[in-house]
Amino acid sequence: MKIENYEFKGTLLPIVTYPDPVLSKVAVPVTVFDKDLENLVMDMLYTMYHAPGIGLAAPQIGKSIRLFVMDVDYDREEVTTADGKEEMRYTNFNPMVLINPVIKSSGEKILYEEGCLSVPGVYEEVKRFEHIKVDYQDLQGNKHSMEADELFAICVQHENDHLDGVVFIERLSNLKKQFYKKKLAKEKNG
Ligand code: NI
Repeated sequence: MKIENYEFKGTLLPIVTYPDPVLSKVAVPVTVFDKDLENLVMDMLYTMYHAPGIGLAAPQIGKSIRLFVMDVDYDREEVTTADGKEEMRYTNFNPMVLINPVIKSSGEKILYEEGCLSVPGVYEEVKRFEHIKVDYQDLQGNKHSMEADELFAICVQHENDHLDGVVFIERLSNLKKQFYKKKLAKEKNG
């Protein structure tokens, strides 16, 4: 669901990295649609834009609940301000939130290179459905359904996996999966 009148403000939340156990848990449905939920979503969007990323699921900020935010459309560029400072400028926001999503996919699968804010430095091709239909709720708890293609569809599938405790490296070949699991565990332990 598109968030209207998005204000680009909030609190930066720490992003947890693999193999943090929260990333392997099956998240529970959202049942309360209140101001706290809205604040959480605004903070998640703010955190996602700063990272920068195109999607962020609640388990990635340590909350094991079924929701994610995404924006596959915004632009981010470095600009020099009047007093000579370099800063990032963000434009063309298209912030979305999908709560308690259920994906119905069929048809062709495509290979697409993915990365993940919780798996820094890893970019690998993953097989995903090219076209999906997804049912979900908005911030008020109202039910919606939409169809998506290409990058948007890939992003929904990647974020939805986080809600099922699946990080994208789990979808790679056994060889690659073992390689990255060892590498990331080692990095995490110093
Ligand atoms: Ni991810």
